[in-house]
Amino acid sequence: MRRKLAAGNWKMNGLAAQIEVLNDLTSRHPTPAVDVMICPPATLVGAAAAATAGKPLMIGGQDCHTAGSGAHTGDISAAMLADAGAGAVILGHSERREDHGEDDALVAAKTTTVQGAGLIAVVCVGETLAQREGGETLDVIKAQLTGSIPADAAADTLVVAYEPVWAIGTGKIPTLTEIAEVHDFIRAELTGRFGADFADKIRLLYGGSVKPTNAEEIFAVSNVDGALVGGASLKAEDFSGIITALE
Ligand code: G3H
Repeated sequence: MRRKLAAGNWKMNGLAAQIEVLNDLTSRHPTPAVDVMICPPATLVGAAAAATAGKPLMIGGQDCHTAGSGAHTGDISAAMLADAGAGAVILGHSERREDHGEDDALVAAKTTTVQGAGLIAVVCVGETLAQREGGETLDVIKAQLTGSIPADAAADTLVVAYEPVWAIGTGKIPTLTEIAEVHDFIRAELTGRFGADFADKIRLLYGGSVKPTNAEEIFAVSNVDGALVGGASLKAEDFSGIITALE
């Protein structure tokens, strides 16, 4: 069966002192019954990996370039993240798609690079409010899945996160029925494209205003294998509550 995954995305938050949150989390959860991941900003990946070495908390990056190295000022490669101690990379987050014009083809290329470097690719998809209100949600998700996951993707190092853009950082979440509809749809799409053996291995995370107070009901939804958490991953107490809800 799929092991549940509580993943935190610190986004562009955290100075050196934020590492203490990781120490707090590993103290609170020395032997978690689920996988736990934190994706700090790139500046903290090395320190985060050092602080959690030998502990059951994986460190991830929030993005990377498609190339292994080269003349790409300001960018970071999957190999560099791996070298710093990361085990995963978030790809195609809606903030990357919005702020940096990332499209599905680029996300697919990054997925290939990340998996090639031996890291887990956490590929994000999700509709905007206008798309949901226009009844386009499943079409948007289908197009993003098809375009962002390459045909030769490896199941063992792929995670998919469903993050409705309008639910990110807003305190709003879809109804549980709506979450189930999309997660069931993603599982069915992966099954149709890659087969059941492949699709059954893929953890599907829900992301968007997950808090300790709503985590338990979200985690009870069909085909929800965990969460990708933004704001509530910045404080150990909050993220700990979400880990506990998933256990
Ligand atoms: O990657 C995380 C998501 O964008 C969710 O962020 O939990 O602050 O809504 P949030």
